[in-house]
Amino acid sequence: MSTLTNGSGPVPADAFVHPSKPHLEGDDGISAFENYKRLHEQSIKNPQEFWGSLARDLLTWSRDFDIVRRGSLERGDLSWFLGGELNACYNCVDRHAFATPDKVALIYEADEPEHGRVLTYDDLLREVCQLSYVLKDMGVKKGDTVAIYMPMVPEAIIALLACVRIGAVHSVIFAGFSSDSLRDRINDAKCKVVLTSNESKRGGKTHAIKHIVDKALVECPVVTGVLVFKRTESEVQWIAGRDHWWQDVVKKWPAYIAPERMNAEDPLFLLYTSGSTGKPKGVLHSTGGYLVGAAATGKYVFDIHDGDSFFCGGDIGWITGHTYVVYAPLLLGVSTVIFEGSPMYPNPSRYWDIIDKHDVTHFYVAPTALRLLKKSGDQHVTGERAHLRVLGSVGEPIAPEVWKWYFEVVGKGQAQIVDAHRAAQTYWQTETGSHVIAPLAGATPTKPGAASFPFFGIEPAILDAATGEEIDGANVEGVLAFKQAWPSMARTVWGAHDRYMDTYLRPFKGYYYTGDGASRDKDGFYWIGGRMDDIINVSGHRISTAEIEAALIEDFTVAEAAVVAVQDEITGQASVAFLTLKDHRAVTPEIRDELILQVRRTIGPFAAPRRIYVVDDLPKTRSGKIMRRVLRKILAGEQDQLGDTSTLSDPTVVERIIAAVQAGP
Ligand code: PRX
Repeated sequence: MSTLTNGSGPVPADAFVHPSKPHLEGDDGISAFENYKRLHEQSIKNPQEFWGSLARDLLTWSRDFDIVRRGSLERGDLSWFLGGELNACYNCVDRHAFATPDKVALIYEADEPEHGRVLTYDDLLREVCQLSYVLKDMGVKKGDTVAIYMPMVPEAIIALLACVRIGAVHSVIFAGFSSDSLRDRINDAKCKVVLTSNESKRGGKTHAIKHIVDKALVECPVVTGVLVFKRTESEVQWIAGRDHWWQDVVKKWPAYIAPERMNAEDPLFLLYTSGSTGKPKGVLHSTGGYLVGAAATGKYVFDIHDGDSFFCGGDIGWITGHTYVVYAPLLLGVSTVIFEGSPMYPNPSRYWDIIDKHDVTHFYVAPTALRLLKKSGDQHVTGERAHLRVLGSVGEPIAPEVWKWYFEVVGKGQAQIVDAHRAAQTYWQTETGSHVIAPLAGATPTKPGAASFPFFGIEPAILDAATGEEIDGANVEGVLAFKQAWPSMARTVWGAHDRYMDTYLRPFKGYYYTGDGASRDKDGFYWIGGRMDDIINVSGHRISTAEIEAALIEDFTVAEAAVVAVQDEITGQASVAFLTLKDHRAVTPEIRDELILQVRRTIGPFAAPRRIYVVDDLPKTRSGKIMRRVLRKILAGEQDQLGDTSTLSDPTVVERIIAAVQAGP
């Protein structure tokens, strides 16, 4: 077995003794934290050796790689594990199906608590292979892109795995996106085939998602086939020749097909995410590097051990679902819970019921769900949660009181969460592929609300936003960047490498720029501040205010739009729109409803503004730039701190906007 060196001699990378003993805790008296520090230092000083050893340890390669890392952040030409060949599906499924066929791979917890099913690794291999044949039969070849627009059912995970088995690139589109958003993503990636279901179910409600696909496909000339999983009994509109029922076709095919040999740098998947300007970006992840990041963070951040049952509440439409519902747990050969429903249905005890029912050891969720559950009352935190060992939160800042509630109320009971170090907040992004700043469960200390320490290979830097100079030392604040490349960083933006360079690698030469503000405290803990650009975070969903503005302006009544974020008790942030209407027409309730609908139609229901204010003008500089800062201050009730408004082309507009906000939307 390959080893990691801990500085005083080699320690096995897999130091598994007892599930509650962290991987990083050696038998040589060195604390897990000391081990982390030494390994982190090695990963920075000698990334080739560090990642080479870990990549061989965590993954099965059909051909070993010749070189660990090539390229530089400056040039934006990074590649990892070159010459290596592997298949993602083989690593997630086959090797476990061969060794432990009866081990549970997927635990499907349906929207209705009494429904669901369990698939072993053996079952999973069979179902993935059959679907792989179907995709091939539908004309999908190695390197093709496939769109997946599905609810959280096992077939969605099977879909991802079947794509990567045959070398196709999956592009999952969150099933809450509108038909317009779906159309744009399908066309940008030139997907030939779309996988969907007739309907989806969530929180007791049914959504006609095939209907949304049908609408999108009217303008998607490249799509030749649609595979429809029958989730409910409802009939749907059907286009003969194009549409196929999933359950009918899969059973025609054999239970095994060999996985395609893929190069480490071959694309694994695309995932569209909001940027601060323009249309969403197709973030591209490559096979070897992404898988190493997913497996390494699963093992060391979550301290996953054999026999664990991992429950990540994220949807596969977002990066959290990709990395921590699918890839990390399956690469490590444990069971992963696929939860179709909502935490409030049929009641606010649903998560805790699932945790008890499936002996869940790890629970990972967005703070927005925790805020909602905390508000519902501690009496709903029921059951024993006897096997729970690690708690994680992701995607947005978590307030210290919510973190404490998570650790103290959820983490106690019979749970084995003996110390706060096992309740971790994790910082990362679609583009980073896996955690970049996060405590390692049971190994590194935590502070409520802090993202804490860099993961292996991550060398954070706090930069002065104006000068780009690095700010050293303690108690400093600035923008967050990384000085070194890591295996799971996105390789490009699909079809727009220049945009990739402009967004991440050119703002500060030689660094990866996260777009987030951050600080480092006296103990070296990192704290994430918030976005430096126009991206907002609503219930953990990343949305660009520019996209919402663009959607509003498409409406024929709207002349100008400015969207800003306000804080919200449950969703973290919410968007508020300020609009001027054409011909100075007066707003009516119908126009307001239509505008909300416009955003729902163009992006998706989750992006709809919380409030709309119609005003006669927006605060603009003489050169016509909208000063969103003024709008934010007014919404926060800080009109006495507006700063210098003399640069506005019409300073009197401020008074009128204050009056409009006070009068209510
Ligand atoms: O602003 C940061 C915030 O979410 C952004 C990334 O969003 P997305 O690509 O959708 O990925 C979300 C799931 C990883 C970041 O730029 N963010 C993520 N994690 C945290 C966070 N903000 C504060 N604390 C976090 N732990």
